[in-house]
Amino acid sequence: MTKPVFILNGPNLNLLGTREPHIYGTTTLAEVEEMCRARAKDHGLEIVFHQSNSEAEIIDWIHDAINDASGIIINPAAFTHTSLAILDALNMVKHPIIELHISNPHNRESFRHHSYVTFAATGFICGLGVNGYALAVDAVAELLKDLQSVGKKST
Ligand code: DQA
Repeated sequence: MTKPVFILNGPNLNLLGTREPHIYGTTTLAEVEEMCRARAKDHGLEIVFHQSNSEAEIIDWIHDAINDASGIIINPAAFTHTSLAILDALNMVKHPIIELHISNPHNRESFRHHSYVTFAATGFICGLGVNGYALAVDAVAELLKDLQSVGKKST
Protein backbone atom coordinates (compact mmCIF):
# COMPACT_ATOMS: atom_id res chain seq x y z
CA MET A 1 0.00 0.00 0.00
CA THR A 2 1.46 3.36 -1.04
CA LYS A 3 1.94 5.80 1.82
CA PRO A 4 -0.15 9.00 1.67
CA VAL A 5 0.94 12.15 -0.12
CA PHE A 6 1.35 15.00 2.35
CA ILE A 7 -0.09 18.32 1.17
CA LEU A 8 1.28 21.10 3.36
CA ASN A 9 0.14 24.72 3.33
CA GLY A 10 1.80 27.69 4.96
CA PRO A 11 0.67 30.93 6.57
CA ASN A 12 -2.47 32.81 5.60
CA LEU A 13 -3.70 30.02 3.31
CA ASN A 14 -6.36 29.20 5.93
CA LEU A 15 -8.05 32.38 4.69
CA LEU A 16 -8.14 31.26 1.07
CA GLY A 17 -11.47 32.29 -0.47
CA THR A 18 -11.49 35.70 1.18
CA ARG A 19 -7.77 36.53 1.15
CA GLU A 20 -6.89 38.87 -1.76
CA PRO A 21 -9.35 37.07 -4.08
CA HIS A 22 -8.06 39.02 -7.10
CA ILE A 23 -4.78 37.11 -6.63
CA TYR A 24 -5.78 33.81 -4.99
CA GLY A 25 -9.39 33.33 -6.17
CA THR A 26 -12.51 32.56 -4.17
CA THR A 27 -12.08 28.82 -3.54
CA THR A 28 -11.65 27.98 0.14
CA LEU A 29 -8.89 25.76 1.52
CA ALA A 30 -11.53 23.19 2.57
CA GLU A 31 -12.67 23.03 -1.07
CA VAL A 32 -9.04 22.67 -2.20
CA GLU A 33 -8.63 19.77 0.23
CA GLU A 34 -11.76 18.08 -1.14
CA MET A 35 -10.49 18.55 -4.71
CA CYS A 36 -7.09 17.04 -3.82
CA ARG A 37 -8.68 14.08 -2.02
CA ALA A 38 -10.88 13.33 -5.05
CA ARG A 39 -7.98 13.65 -7.50
CA ALA A 40 -5.74 11.47 -5.33
CA LYS A 41 -8.50 8.83 -5.17
CA ASP A 42 -8.55 8.75 -9.00
CA HIS A 43 -4.90 7.72 -8.79
CA GLY A 44 -5.48 5.23 -5.95
CA LEU A 45 -3.66 7.53 -3.54
CA GLU A 46 -4.52 8.97 -0.15
CA ILE A 47 -3.60 12.40 1.13
CA VAL A 48 -2.84 14.00 4.48
CA PHE A 49 -3.75 17.69 4.21
CA HIS A 50 -2.44 20.30 6.66
CA GLN A 51 -2.23 24.07 6.99
CA SER A 52 -0.37 26.06 9.60
CA ASN A 53 0.65 29.63 10.27
CA SER A 54 3.57 28.27 12.30
CA GLU A 55 6.92 27.46 10.69
CA ALA A 56 7.70 24.98 13.48
CA GLU A 57 4.54 22.98 12.86
CA ILE A 58 5.27 22.77 9.13
CA ILE A 59 8.79 21.53 9.88
CA ASP A 60 7.37 18.87 12.23
CA TRP A 61 5.04 17.64 9.45
CA ILE A 62 7.97 17.47 7.03
CA HIS A 63 9.82 15.35 9.62
CA ASP A 64 6.76 13.06 9.83
CA ALA A 65 6.76 12.82 6.03
CA ILE A 66 10.29 11.36 5.99
CA ASN A 67 8.86 8.01 7.10
CA ASP A 68 5.11 8.36 6.70
CA ALA A 69 4.61 9.87 3.22
CA SER A 70 5.25 8.81 -0.37
CA GLY A 71 5.57 12.43 -1.54
CA ILE A 72 5.04 16.03 -0.51
CA ILE A 73 3.15 18.85 -2.18
CA ILE A 74 4.01 22.06 -0.38
CA ASN A 75 2.75 25.60 -0.70
CA PRO A 76 4.99 27.22 1.90
CA ALA A 77 3.33 30.62 1.23
CA ALA A 78 5.50 33.47 2.58
CA PHE A 79 7.92 30.96 4.19
CA THR A 80 8.96 30.12 0.61
CA HIS A 81 10.96 33.31 0.53
CA THR A 82 12.36 33.26 4.07
CA SER A 83 12.75 29.78 5.49
CA LEU A 84 16.09 28.07 5.32
CA ALA A 85 14.75 25.82 8.11
CA ILE A 86 11.98 24.47 5.84
CA LEU A 87 14.58 23.86 3.11
CA ASP A 88 16.81 21.97 5.56
CA ALA A 89 13.84 19.80 6.60
CA LEU A 90 12.87 19.10 2.96
CA ASN A 91 16.46 18.15 2.16
CA MET A 92 16.00 15.10 4.41
CA VAL A 93 13.01 13.86 2.38
CA LYS A 94 13.79 11.21 -0.24
CA HIS A 95 10.36 11.24 -1.92
CA PRO A 96 9.12 13.52 -4.72
CA ILE A 97 8.50 17.10 -3.59
CA ILE A 98 6.35 19.53 -5.57
CA GLU A 99 6.60 23.22 -4.72
CA LEU A 100 3.28 24.85 -5.46
CA HIS A 101 2.03 28.42 -5.65
CA ILE A 102 -1.44 29.57 -6.56
CA SER A 103 -0.13 32.82 -8.01
CA ASN A 104 3.01 33.23 -10.11
CA PRO A 105 5.57 34.69 -7.68
CA HIS A 106 7.84 35.54 -10.62
CA ASN A 107 5.50 38.14 -12.06
CA ARG A 108 4.94 39.74 -8.64
CA GLU A 109 7.17 41.80 -6.30
CA SER A 110 10.90 41.05 -6.54
CA PHE A 111 11.00 39.77 -2.92
CA ARG A 112 8.83 36.84 -4.08
CA HIS A 113 11.27 35.83 -6.83
CA HIS A 114 13.60 33.93 -4.52
CA SER A 115 12.55 30.56 -3.13
CA TYR A 116 14.53 28.51 -0.61
CA VAL A 117 12.19 25.55 -1.18
CA THR A 118 13.05 25.28 -4.88
CA PHE A 119 16.46 23.87 -3.94
CA ALA A 120 14.77 20.74 -2.56
CA ALA A 121 11.86 20.51 -5.00
CA THR A 122 11.56 17.84 -7.69
CA GLY A 123 9.21 20.15 -9.60
CA PHE A 124 7.48 23.50 -9.43
CA ILE A 125 3.90 24.49 -10.28
CA CYS A 126 2.76 28.10 -10.10
CA GLY A 127 0.39 30.64 -11.54
CA LEU A 128 -2.44 28.21 -12.35
CA GLY A 129 -4.71 29.12 -9.46
CA VAL A 130 -5.96 26.44 -7.09
CA ASN A 131 -6.14 24.03 -10.03
CA GLY A 132 -2.39 23.75 -9.53
CA TYR A 133 -3.11 21.54 -6.51
CA ALA A 134 -4.90 18.93 -8.66
CA LEU A 135 -2.07 19.11 -11.20
CA ALA A 136 0.44 18.62 -8.40
CA VAL A 137 -1.41 15.46 -7.29
CA ASP A 138 -1.26 14.20 -10.91
CA ALA A 139 2.47 15.00 -11.00
CA VAL A 140 3.21 13.11 -7.77
CA ALA A 141 1.16 10.13 -9.02
CA GLU A 142 3.22 10.04 -12.25
CA LEU A 143 6.52 10.39 -10.37
CA LEU A 144 5.54 7.53 -8.03
CA LYS A 145 4.61 5.34 -11.02
CA ASP A 146 8.01 6.08 -12.60
CA LEU A 147 9.79 5.26 -9.34
CA GLN A 148 7.86 1.98 -9.03
CA SER A 149 8.71 0.93 -12.59
CA VAL A 150 12.40 1.81 -12.06
CA GLY A 151 12.30 -0.25 -8.85
CA LYS A 152 10.79 -3.22 -10.70
CA LYS A 153 13.40 -3.04 -13.46
CA SER A 154 16.27 -3.11 -10.98
CA THR A 155 14.98 -6.23 -9.14
C1 DQA B 1 1.88 31.98 -2.50
C2 DQA B 1 2.84 33.05 -3.02
C3 DQA B 1 3.65 33.65 -1.88
O1 DQA B 1 4.52 34.66 -2.37
C4 DQA B 1 2.73 34.29 -0.85
O2 DQA B 1 3.47 34.77 0.24
C5 DQA B 1 1.64 33.36 -0.40
C6 DQA B 1 1.00 32.51 -1.39
C7 DQA B 1 0.95 31.45 -3.61
O3 DQA B 1 0.34 30.40 -3.39
O4 DQA B 1 0.81 32.07 -4.66
O5 DQA B 1 1.23 33.40 0.73
O6 DQA B 1 2.65 30.88 -2.03
